[in-house]
Amino acid sequence: MIDFGDFYRLIAKSPLSHWLNTLPPQLSEWQKNSLHGKFKQWFNAVEYMPDVTPESVDLLHSVTVDNAALSEGQRKGIETHLRNLMPWRKGPFSLYGTNIDTEWRSDWKWERVVPHISNLEGRTILDVGCGSGYHLWRMVGAGAHLAVGIDPMQLFLCQFEAVRKLLGGDLRAHVLPLGIEQLPELQAFDTVFSMGVLYHRRSPLDHLYQLKNQLVSEGELVLETLVIDGDAQQVLVPGDRYAQMRNVYFIPSAAALVNWLEKCGFVDIRIVDICPTTTEEQRRTDWMTSESLAEFLDPQDPTKTIEGYPAPMRAVIVAKKP
Ligand SMILES: C[S@@+](CC[C@H](N)C(=O)[O-])C[C@H]1O[C@@H](n2cnc3c(N)ncnc32)[C@H](O)[C@@H]1O
Repeated sequence: MIDFGDFYRLIAKSPLSHWLNTLPPQLSEWQKNSLHGKFKQWFNAVEYMPDVTPESVDLLHSVTVDNAALSEGQRKGIETHLRNLMPWRKGPFSLYGTNIDTEWRSDWKWERVVPHISNLEGRTILDVGCGSGYHLWRMVGAGAHLAVGIDPMQLFLCQFEAVRKLLGGDLRAHVLPLGIEQLPELQAFDTVFSMGVLYHRRSPLDHLYQLKNQLVSEGELVLETLVIDGDAQQVLVPGDRYAQMRNVYFIPSAAALVNWLEKCGFVDIRIVDICPTTTEEQRRTDWMTSESLAEFLDPQDPTKTIEGYPAPMRAVIVAKKP
C-alpha cells in the first residue's frame, strides 16, 4: 500500500511539522477503511511499473522524461501500465516515448497563470484539487522547494505515483488523498493554488477561508474557477447540472469573486485572466475516451451549455493574505 513515510520525514523539520499531530492517523484510517474498489488494480499499475532511471527530465516547459537506453520492450511495458490508469484528464505527459494526450491541456492553464504570480523559487506550495499532479511537477520545474497536492480521487493519486516513479522517485512533490475540508489550519504555505475547485464547493466563502487558513501571513492565493459575465452582484446557481456536471454550486462573476475575497480578508486582489474554455483545451482523446466539452455544449449555439447556461468561462485571480 502507499507509504507516506517519506512525506512525514520531509515535513518533520519544516514549518509543516505540526501537521504530524493529525496526518498519520488520518491516512492510516484512510488506508484501512476508505480504499476504492479498484484501488488495488490501479496501485498494481504503479507497483509493476518498471524501475527506470531518467536520463533527461524537463519539468520547466513540460512534464517530459526519457532515457535513450530503454528497450522497445521496456517502453511498451510503461505504456501498458499507464493505459491501465485511464482515464487521464490532466496533463499532457511525455514519459519514455509515451505521450499521454489528456482530456485537458493543463499546460495552457499553467501558461495563463504563471506570468501573474510570485516567483515559485524556494516556496512551499499547496495545490488544492491537484488531479493527477500535473501542475505540481510544473511547480517543481519552476523551483518550488516542496509542492503538496491534495485530491480525494484515488485514481489521480495512483496516476501521480506512477509519474513520480518514472521521474526516478522525485520527492519534491507529494499527493495526499484528502479534501480541503479535512485539513487543519496549517498557516504554513507560501502559495496556495485552488484551480477548478471553488464551483464544486457547496459553501464557496468557507472554501476561501479554508484556503486563507493554509497560508502564511503575506502568502499568495492563486484562484482559478468558472465565472459568468456580470457585475459584482451576479452569481449563477445552476439547477441539477451544469455542462453535464452534477456537482456545480456557485458560478460568480469575476467582480463578485473579488467581492467575496475582500469579505474573507484577502488584499491586493487582481483579476489576471478571463477566457472561455474551448473544445481544443478540453476534449475527448485516446487517453480519455468518454464525452467531453463538445458534447456538453448546445450543438445549435456553442455559447451555451446543453442546459442553456452560459458556456464555461474561467478566471484567474491572485490575492494576498495580509
Ligand atoms: C476540475 S478539477 C481541477 C484539477 C486541477 N486543479 C486543474 O485545474 O486542472 C477539480 C479537482 O478537484 C478535486 N476535488 C473535488 N472536491 C475536492 C475537495 N473537497 N478538496 C480537494 N479537491 C477536491 C477533484 O477530484 C478534481 O481532481
